[in-house]
Amino acid sequence: MERRPLIAGNWKMNLSLDDSVNLVKEIGAGMSGVKGVEVLVAPPFTALSTIRQAIGDSGIFLAGQNMNSEISGAYTGEVSGRMLQGAGCTHVILGHSERRALFNETSEVIDLKVKTAVLLGLIPIICIGETLEEREAGRTFDVIKEQLNLSLHNFKADELMLPSNILAYEPVWAIGTGKTATPDQAQEVHLFIRKWIEGTFDTKTANQVRILYGGSVKPENVADLMSQADIDGALVGGASLKADLFVKLIRFKES
Ligand code: 13P
Repeated sequence: MERRPLIAGNWKMNLSLDDSVNLVKEIGAGMSGVKGVEVLVAPPFTALSTIRQAIGDSGIFLAGQNMNSEISGAYTGEVSGRMLQGAGCTHVILGHSERRALFNETSEVIDLKVKTAVLLGLIPIICIGETLEEREAGRTFDVIKEQLNLSLHNFKADELMLPSNILAYEPVWAIGTGKTATPDQAQEVHLFIRKWIEGTFDTKTANQVRILYGGSVKPENVADLMSQADIDGALVGGASLKADLFVKLIRFKES
């Protein structure tokens, strides 16, 4: 089963509107002629509509970095999935470790968001990953399993685990630190995640769902990571803010 690679840029809380537009235009120009690779950017909310226009017909997918689990209502400061769709998003990143650690998002909260996203027709990119402390204590697989069980809690009963849903393994110790998981370390966890999908849902779904790796992905390490059997793409922070670096990631097959 062929899974189309996805290179996704999570811009986090960075870039002016002008810089964002320039970046996405340079990415669009740089990826021309690339076949068989999907490209996505996740700008801050305030840039989404403008970036959607700047994307034009270059084929870059647009994602929100977060959303509320409610559709509308008295939730000052929040943004709903339907609003993301109105701004041109097809995807939404949910459960990023920065949301979990800095904004107290629990797997239970993420579970509600993921469910709403799928019901709205937004493709969720669901992030999971262990801290350094958890890895050193030998708890990586327990943590990943618990995050999967809790963040996708309602999926089985409601048949929401669609082949288009995306998971992202982002070891917290590798995010923004320059420390990448080795391809073997990442592959080991990706395989574990795929086996969990198979056990919880079915083999067909497990073979179709894409699992991205995130954490200090750079032009120097992307090809080795992407050569692993269960790594289907990258969720990129720092290197997604520089057009030349991000285009090299998109062109990983050429490196
Ligand atoms: P870095 O690529 O900067 O390590 O960030 C990874 C990340 O958090 C993507 O969501």
